[in-house]
Amino acid sequence: MNDTAHTPAGRMAALRARLGGIGFGADYNPEQWPEATRAEDLALMAEAGVTVVNLAIFAWARVEPARDAYDFGYFDRVMDDLAAHGITADLATMTAAPPPWLVTEHPEVLPVTAAGTVLSPGGRQHFCPSSPVFRDRAARLVEAVATHYRGHPALGLWHVGNEYGCHVSECFCAASAADFRRWLTDRYKDVDALNDAWSTDFWSQRYASFDQVLPPREAPTYPNPSQQLDFKRFSNDALRACFELETDILRRVTPEIPVTTNFLAGLKSVDMYDWAPAMDALSLDSYPDPNWEHAHIGAAMSYDGIRCAGGGEPWLLTEQAPSAVNWRARNAGKEPGNMRLWSWQAVAQGADAIMYFQWRQSRGGAEKFHSGMVPHAGPDTRVFQEVAALGRELAMVPELVGTRVRNRVALLSDWNSWWALELDSHPSDGVRHLDRAFDHYAPLFDLGIGVDVVHPDADLSDYRLVVVPSLYLLSAEHGDKLSRYVADGGSLVVSFFSGIVDEHDRVHLGGYPGPLREALGISVQEFWPADTGAVFPVQGAGDSGTADLWREDVTLKGARAELEFVGPEWDGRPAATVHSHGTGTARYIATRPDPATMRDLMARACTEAGVEPVLPALPQGVQAVVRANAEHDVLLLLNHTNTTHTIELPTPRHNLLSPTRPLTTHITLPPRDIAALGTPPTPTHPTPISPSGV
Ligand code: GLA
Repeated sequence: MNDTAHTPAGRMAALRARLGGIGFGADYNPEQWPEATRAEDLALMAEAGVTVVNLAIFAWARVEPARDAYDFGYFDRVMDDLAAHGITADLATMTAAPPPWLVTEHPEVLPVTAAGTVLSPGGRQHFCPSSPVFRDRAARLVEAVATHYRGHPALGLWHVGNEYGCHVSECFCAASAADFRRWLTDRYKDVDALNDAWSTDFWSQRYASFDQVLPPREAPTYPNPSQQLDFKRFSNDALRACFELETDILRRVTPEIPVTTNFLAGLKSVDMYDWAPAMDALSLDSYPDPNWEHAHIGAAMSYDGIRCAGGGEPWLLTEQAPSAVNWRARNAGKEPGNMRLWSWQAVAQGADAIMYFQWRQSRGGAEKFHSGMVPHAGPDTRVFQEVAALGRELAMVPELVGTRVRNRVALLSDWNSWWALELDSHPSDGVRHLDRAFDHYAPLFDLGIGVDVVHPDADLSDYRLVVVPSLYLLSAEHGDKLSRYVADGGSLVVSFFSGIVDEHDRVHLGGYPGPLREALGISVQEFWPADTGAVFPVQGAGDSGTADLWREDVTLKGARAELEFVGPEWDGRPAATVHSHGTGTARYIATRPDPATMRDLMARACTEAGVEPVLPALPQGVQAVVRANAEHDVLLLLNHTNTTHTIELPTPRHNLLSPTRPLTTHITLPPRDIAALGTPPTPTHPTPISPSGV
């Protein structure tokens, strides 16, 4: 091994070389089945083109059935079989569900809710992230697993834990309280700094020492919001510490093997941007609801988020459902073609692996009605046939691996703001982080414009337009950065209830939105959140529409209104503004316009910023994305509609999913169909001339 092999890039290069194309596979839980089933599994995996499986995620009780009594016999046979069939194991560290012996011997590892309820074993993820006993036992297990499987030919990737924070994201027990106090001492050093940050002179909360501070347990009324915010940060850090504890062991024992953990799309408790630097590849589990008409847009937003959290590098779709899940109130399956379309959508937006939960649908246990690649009815089924066809199809475009997506629009997202925005005692409980992001993302998606979903720390200099959807918490530094971005020629769109508080949830004074007032050329004195169902007319130059959710009294301080409220009391007051600042333009939206009005606003902002759709004149609902690198340039087209569309290509491209890869000038996409279209390969050397000269 050389030094490069032990870097994130080196580790990922090795994984790519093993997989040889877009990875395809599933959570493989063979321990649920008799050993004889494995032969059929492996034959079906070959038929479906499976190249990678997430293995042993919930296997702690089997591998360590009693304290220190490790038994790897069963998984040795599975790993050997995988290696013999050329399948890579994304081997789990197995710590996602503590075994019965551990919680019997140490009930103190169990998590406790804010109301003081101890969560029992019987489900999974029943551990307190701060528990020294849990961390010690997890570390011992990971050391044993890593040492045992070091050098095994099937081992290609480590899967640490599983969906950290998806069931238990915060624990309020005594061990967590002690850990929280350590975390606060480290952050504030001096208790008076904490008193200042938490505004503890309000309601007589002033602390004389860190020892007096508790987690924000259930209280007579709203617990201190800054305390709640810090507890969310602490809880994220406590989970990340568990992840890093395991990762450090893996890096020491197997420095050549990349490490990932799977994030759950839309999960509020775990900050992907914060965890990303500790990972070699980012992984996402995505379960769009087939009953939601905009599910593909919601999924698109999360794919743009995970890709950008990983600095634009390809990511892994570690889980999706082959058809229905089991955990919603009503669990719709995926219509024929939908699973393929949504899988290709993840690939288009940067995924280098497509995987499912799970390989074989369980016979018993809590998830037996969750679809599997091999359903209860066996392989002679629509679901298996569709996934197997997809596996074979993905293998046709190995050139996609390692390519990247480049966009000119950034939408800002920050877990700190998400946590703070959704605390209690706010003007409206209807202003929700994901909804607000979606209200801005969806019109851009409809306009065919690619978006990067980035943290405010990201380098914005390459973006022509930056969108800030109700980013409630904005530090003065990030506010200055956005103002400079505009002054230097950028275009900014900011929506209401952005830039309201600093990193301690203390209001920026002098008129809202404190650090952005000057760039936006406005000032706001009062919020007027709307009652549920209330709708207001708005009027712009030529167009009129409606708005809801929120209004505020915007005073123009250099900006001009481009949309106004209409009607008694509010007639003529600005609903959306535009302002020139330096050499750039800053827009402000003081309400929630209806989708058509919002789309017009975003279209105007894009046009003025010089942002173009990926392809001109795309029908709404047809998504276009380009993935490219120095060697390859692939245009992916996805028809999310129920209508057939013919798309003219600006330049001819090869149809990569047709065996002869013919050159084409247009492509016809029936409903839910997709296309992968490559540019003619650019020769890296002059075309060789044959000896005869012809
Ligand atoms: C999560 C988990 C899986 C499984 C799926 C079901 O993503 O990681 O173990 O429970 O949900 O959708």
